[in-house]
Amino acid sequence: MDWGLHNRLARIFQRDHRTVMLAVDHGYFMGPTTRLEDPRATIAPLLPYADAIMLTRGVLRNCVDPDVPIPVVLRVSGGTTILRKDELPNETIMTTVEDAVRLNACAVALSIFVGSDYEHQTLANLARLVDMAIPYGMPVLAVTAVGKELEKRDARYLALACRVAAEFGAHFVKTYFCENFERVAGSCPVPLVIAGGPKLDSDMAVFELVYRALQEGAAGVDMGRNIWQSDYPVPMIRAIRAIVHEQYTPQQALELLRELRTTPTVQV
Ligand code: 5RP
Repeated sequence: MDWGLHNRLARIFQRDHRTVMLAVDHGYFMGPTTRLEDPRATIAPLLPYADAIMLTRGVLRNCVDPDVPIPVVLRVSGGTTILRKDELPNETIMTTVEDAVRLNACAVALSIFVGSDYEHQTLANLARLVDMAIPYGMPVLAVTAVGKELEKRDARYLALACRVAAEFGAHFVKTYFCENFERVAGSCPVPLVIAGGPKLDSDMAVFELVYRALQEGAAGVDMGRNIWQSDYPVPMIRAIRAIVHEQYTPQQALELLRELRTTPTVQV
């Protein structure tokens, strides 16, 4: 593998080949999402506990200090908003790989909407982005997005979408956890990271999701709302980190969360 590509991936995936990515790119189609209204305030306390951050160039340039050595996964696709919910998959590439290089990104991220009216367009976007990124040694993250159709998240659909993403050259894929997730992971030849989706009912549900995804073949998380929409975002990301990197069980993660909730946050 090309040295630059390998080095960028090694900054995202730690020595245990796992990663805790913090997703804060939601504004690109949702606007000022609840608890991400002021991205700088949301992001800053979480950065010491994330292995990488996923966001757009606008939030990166305006809300993250350049002297913070966090690996950046730059969201480069977009083009519609939740105001046009039937058109959400109508995405194109909105940011060049040259600008990603200028921003010292470690990867570029783009959504594919498999099975939607825009399937062909978004897969063509992926193929083009891979072609644009390879000369720079820039890894590509494909996101198997479902828009509002959350019920699509089953193993049959996700295995197909993840496999297609890998076939088109994605270096890693962001997807959802589902029942029979091992079928999704087992048929995708590149690492998978999982999104959390809308905020779950309990902290335990989040920990079980993360734990089971890892047990069944995920290489980590790229999670947003279930971290920063929590009332205790820093304890939450630290507990998720303990599952990903320290083999905590969901119960141990819950105990850690409870302990950290009562401990004043110390900025590293
Ligand atoms: C949208 C995205 C979002 O960043 C992502 O899904 C966010 O993570 P979460 O679902 O955990 O809030 O990639 O397609």
